Amino acid sequence: MAATTIESVLQENRIFTPAEAFVRQANVSGMDAYRRLCAEAEKDFPGFWGRLAREHVLWKKPFTQVLDESKAPFFRWFADGELNASYNCLDRHLETQPEKTAIIFEADDGKVTRITYRELHRRVCMFANGLKARGVKRGERVVIYMPMSIEAVVAMQACARIGAIHSVVFGGFSAKSLQERIIDAGAIAVLTADGQFRGGREIPLKAAVDEAIAMGGCESIATVVVYRRSGSPVAWQAGRDVWMHDLMAGQPETCEPEWVGAEHPLFILYTSGSTGKPKGVQHSTGGYLLWMILTMKWVFDHKPGDIFWCTADVGWVTGHSYVCYGPLACGATEVIFEGVPVYPDAGRFWKMIQDHKVTVFYTAPTAIRSLIKAGGELPKHYDLSSLRILGTVGEPINPEAWMWYHETVGRGRCPIVDTWWQTETGGLMISPLPGATPTKPGSATFPLPGIFADIVDETGHPVGKGKGGMLVITRPWPAMLRTIWGDPERFRKTYYPADFQGKYYLAGDGASYDEDGYIRIIGRIDDVLNVSGHRLGTMEIESALVANPIVAEAAVVGRPDDLTGEAICAFVVLKQARPGTEDAARIVKDLQDWVGREIGPIAKPRDIRFGENLPKTRSGKIMRRLLRSIARDEEIRQDVSTLENPAILQQLSEKAR
Ligand code: WTA
Repeated sequence: MAATTIESVLQENRIFTPAEAFVRQANVSGMDAYRRLCAEAEKDFPGFWGRLAREHVLWKKPFTQVLDESKAPFFRWFADGELNASYNCLDRHLETQPEKTAIIFEADDGKVTRITYRELHRRVCMFANGLKARGVKRGERVVIYMPMSIEAVVAMQACARIGAIHSVVFGGFSAKSLQERIIDAGAIAVLTADGQFRGGREIPLKAAVDEAIAMGGCESIATVVVYRRSGSPVAWQAGRDVWMHDLMAGQPETCEPEWVGAEHPLFILYTSGSTGKPKGVQHSTGGYLLWMILTMKWVFDHKPGDIFWCTADVGWVTGHSYVCYGPLACGATEVIFEGVPVYPDAGRFWKMIQDHKVTVFYTAPTAIRSLIKAGGELPKHYDLSSLRILGTVGEPINPEAWMWYHETVGRGRCPIVDTWWQTETGGLMISPLPGATPTKPGSATFPLPGIFADIVDETGHPVGKGKGGMLVITRPWPAMLRTIWGDPERFRKTYYPADFQGKYYLAGDGASYDEDGYIRIIGRIDDVLNVSGHRLGTMEIESALVANPIVAEAAVVGRPDDLTGEAICAFVVLKQARPGTEDAARIVKDLQDWVGREIGPIAKPRDIRFGENLPKTRSGKIMRRLLRSIARDEEIRQDVSTLENPAILQQLSEKAR
């Protein structure tokens, strides 16, 4: 079934109401139950959150105050309460269900490993003790650069156990990106692996760590722990480097958790913003954990018998919240997958759902679109009857892909939760509840209970039904970011801008309400691109390009792409003459590889076009709206009267590939 034929049958406002049987068993059962929760939050905001925090989180020392707004926008939640995240994820299950499988790990080559809660707890404790033996203490930063594995979860949980702050760097980022993050975080240890397997290929990781440290500025790193995954040879620095298994050997099998205040930072996660420098988004322990548990129960309708599979890498926030913390805090059995969706073929996901009897499946629209393209009929050859909920995250899902997911994967039975959220929000914010909300393809529907979102114009006034504007969150929420690591001013300016008197959290997304008040996310309104659900700053890519000695100037914009959502287009002025066709192809390749090394392969520009100049106003400002039109191969119908050098447009329209 071609995606296009689905679109033609799709009516604008088709509504999918959850089946009666699903509603009856749901944790939030029916729209009235949803509305009751929303009303409770509205009526008594601190009372609502306080009740839930007492019911769902295990506190070593109870909190006395729910929300402290005195230093807004630096909000504090449950601040005098004490707890430990790893205790909440592991120890709490030791008496009730120690032999339950916590993780089903499937390697790239198909090998399956299972680990129980008891064994996961034991390994986390041993690794935590090992880290302590290397001098890692509470509040210290630890960079994790590891493949999807049980060991990555062990590493994150071990940090949480001893109160160390982890900062996971996605394995697809380059040595240079890793170095920048190590320096910004002031990390004292890096946890990595010799290599990782993806799609049958081995990708080295330890080598990138060595390279990052050799670039300089990483003198704070005293320890590099290496998980042996591939067995390939690695360079070794005695004293600094230690194998994970050696570090754990002989360590005690229990480790008293470090009890931390609720506001203690659980992790820092770098994400792209509108400047060249990534932001270290800092999350808390108590509020974050509460929201992970609630969203697992409300949106993923968590039940003890579920087999939960979130396909996100632990290098992204989705992997933090719905691989490492949320499922474990709920005592779930979850699937972790090392490989890629199309290896050995495009049936891999469906085969894994069948083999492991996955009940809740959560993935990105880009993965869905690429699987439609690679084999839209394939799901029909697998038994997907175990599925009960399907979810998406990371980018807008187009109605055609939504319909395919619904019909071909969910066989029309499974509610789809299109979840809108961000690295900064910690957990899901706007999403259907599977046993309550009637869904519309392409809409994330309504804010979750306790979340107050609105769409406003430039003056901060709500736009109302049927209109579009900027998405804002008008009240704080427990899992919100607390600050940008080392840069509180940037936090305030970026997220609580003076335009709205510092009152609203500005999400950076455009959105609209339809006539029924359903929210549709349109996309970023800042200089951030969303490529395959990955956030990349245009400035970051521009900085990487101009760092190349042959580049004089560069401007980067996005253009829509059927598969990846957006594609990166770079306009480049070289220090040498504008290249002819033959040279151009070679230079394009060189520059793509260069950006791959500077940031990571995900940031490689798809198109690169050369000009003797960039279109600028007389005051020297690059006219990005023109570049966006050119990138889309649109005819320029905009006003170019302020353009200093109109002839340049023709040049830039010529593609060099
Ligand atoms: C986009 C990922 C439309 C949005 C969890 C947001 C979405 C950015 C959706 C955050 C969705 C995320 N529909 N767009 N359901 N979910 N986005 O920080 O632009 O990697 O601002 O967090 O992804 O990306 P991030």
